[in-house]
Amino acid sequence: MQSAEVGACWEGNAENWTKFSRAGYDIYRDALNTPAFLDMIPPVAALRGLDLGCGEGTNTRRLAEHGALMTAIDIAPTFIRHAREQEEDDPRGIRYEIGDGADLPFEDEAFDFVTAFMSLMDMPNQAGVLRQVFRVLRRGGFFQFSILHPCFVPPHRKTIRDENGDCHAVEVADYFDETDGRIETWLFSSMPSSERENATPFRVPRFHRTLSTWVAMITASGFVLEELREPMASEEAARLYPTVADTRVVPIFLHLRLRKPAS
Ligand SMILES: C[S@@+](CC[C@H](N)C(=O)[O-])C[C@H]1O[C@@H](n2cnc3c(N)ncnc32)[C@H](O)[C@@H]1O
Repeated sequence: MQSAEVGACWEGNAENWTKFSRAGYDIYRDALNTPAFLDMIPPVAALRGLDLGCGEGTNTRRLAEHGALMTAIDIAPTFIRHAREQEEDDPRGIRYEIGDGADLPFEDEAFDFVTAFMSLMDMPNQAGVLRQVFRVLRRGGFFQFSILHPCFVPPHRKTIRDENGDCHAVEVADYFDETDGRIETWLFSSMPSSERENATPFRVPRFHRTLSTWVAMITASGFVLEELREPMASEEAARLYPTVADTRVVPIFLHLRLRKPAS
């Protein structure tokens, strides 16, 4: 599947994704994934940052609130429209552009850091995206991104629950099937059933890669792997937000920070 088709899927998701995520239904993002990502990122105040696959812009805004001078791109125009409208209503100095991660419309070495929150596993040609990110980063700059954990969220995943409904194991399979745009249909699991019944599920093209393929793409692009984390919900977070409790059994997300060598 090519970028244009991927973009069309996301354009179809963008209106409802914006509405539902801003209503607080993306519990994994808000209760675990973004806080863990921001806990791992080095200080960004006054640095020029690019957020790749920014969606409706919530995470870009978090980076701007940490003092970063943010630019953000997404392939789906409706996401960019919503992000710009929020920026107009409540400015954070963010510039939003429509664009493809595999063909970044920026000068060489234009940024001090690049982020991609949960977008790289949704992009075709990830090796090309990594090369583009390497190109637009200054020497010594970093690229931090989060993806679905390739080992624990491969094409087949089933949560095994006990008699109380608590997750105690996860079944995975098809790990070695590197999919090229296999469509997964789902809605945020925390949506109330009244809204779920009337909502059209998201159609998300997945580009699953094994862990070894990710590492091979990273090293081939010239980056050095600097830090890797597998966020787990705290006991308190799991109690407050039971949706994220399964990350205490196996991780769902993988966070990596890469560094472009200084010389
Ligand atoms: C799972 S969403 C994550 C959105 C946002 N980063 C967040 O954390 O809420 C993945 C995003 O990647 C974008 N995307 C997918 N392929 C892309 C590409 N080739 N170039 C730029 N953005 C892309 C989608 O439009 C979508 O907004």
